[in-house]
Amino acid sequence: MIVVTTPTGSIGHQVLGNVLDTAADSAETIRVIARDPSRLPPRVRERVEVVPGAHNDVDVLTKAFAGADSVFWLVPPNPHAASIQAHIVDFIRPLCEAINSEDVKRVVGVSSLGRGIAKKAGQISAIFAMDDLIESTGVSYRSLCMPGFMENMLWQVEPIKRQGMFSLPMSGDRKVPTCATRDIAAAAANLMLDGSWSGQASVPILGPEDLSHNDMAQIMSGVLGRPVRFRQVPAEAYKATLMQHGMTEAWAQGLIDMAAAVDQGLYSAQPRTPENSTPTSFRQWCEQVLKPAVQG
Ligand SMILES: NC(=O)c1ccc[n+]([C@@H]2O[C@H](COP(=O)([O-])OP(=O)(O)OC[C@H]3O[C@@H](n4cnc5c(N)ncnc54)[C@H](OP(=O)(O)O)[C@@H]3O)[C@@H](O)[C@H]2O)c1
Repeated sequence: MIVVTTPTGSIGHQVLGNVLDTAADSAETIRVIARDPSRLPPRVRERVEVVPGAHNDVDVLTKAFAGADSVFWLVPPNPHAASIQAHIVDFIRPLCEAINSEDVKRVVGVSSLGRGIAKKAGQISAIFAMDDLIESTGVSYRSLCMPGFMENMLWQVEPIKRQGMFSLPMSGDRKVPTCATRDIAAAAANLMLDGSWSGQASVPILGPEDLSHNDMAQIMSGVLGRPVRFRQVPAEAYKATLMQHGMTEAWAQGLIDMAAAVDQGLYSAQPRTPENSTPTSFRQWCEQVLKPAVQG
């Protein structure tokens, strides 16, 4: 039996879609945990068992994990958190309790690149508490380790549309990996459907190439058919804007620290190999996702 958390989220809904497609002809039970089951499409609701509630509630998890072979796990972002670390740890404790009480066999979790080397890297540093706590239960575990998602560019649709520009507190020239959530979901679904693995390991997911923000601007310009440029903004000004949009000081500072760490090469420590290079290119993603969003 497979349990998928965050079935309405960006990665989670694609994990669920892949699992449902692949397991269509099998007798495998698929169970999801959803705060608001009405947000699941009817065709999904018909094919899964739904445990209503939040996946940081131990009673909900205990119910959902009864008989579970594998669990897809993700800590939702919380821009209103007073402490990033406390948000992650508070979210993970009920999971660890339920893994042990229900004897879950395998967990696939969404983490980040940079484990073991990230220092003062905001949300990136904090997420490794998740890996540590899950591993401490002894469950078989695969930690999916990603760079920034291509989907982060969707936060910049309005300035791209109105000013032909996107901004970050990072340099334009640093080449970094970036991956599409569809490739993360495909890797997660494969692991969820494979009953043969055990032990604990990391699975890097790097996308097909390293790109700078200037490279991305050039690709976007070609795909959108109009000029798009990247602008580096001062960290403090960026942080102030995030806070004006309702983020806590802690969450905004985390994003600034994360950007600085990535700019200093945090993501480049993971060597690229054919195995960790995933297929969706930034150009393809822009054609299929960004362009409709900008035109919409
Ligand atoms: N963005 C990046 O570049 C990047 C890079 C590396 C790793 N990550 C990691 O990726 C994860 C984000 O994944 P994503 O983009 O798929 O997230 P997302 O699209 O924001 O989805 C969040 C999901 O969590 C649910 N949710 C939100 N708040 C909740 C709460 N308090 N209790 C229970 N459920 C809640 C939402 O469901 P409802 O609201 O429908 O209930 C939704 O299904 C984070 O863990 C982040 O650290 C991100």
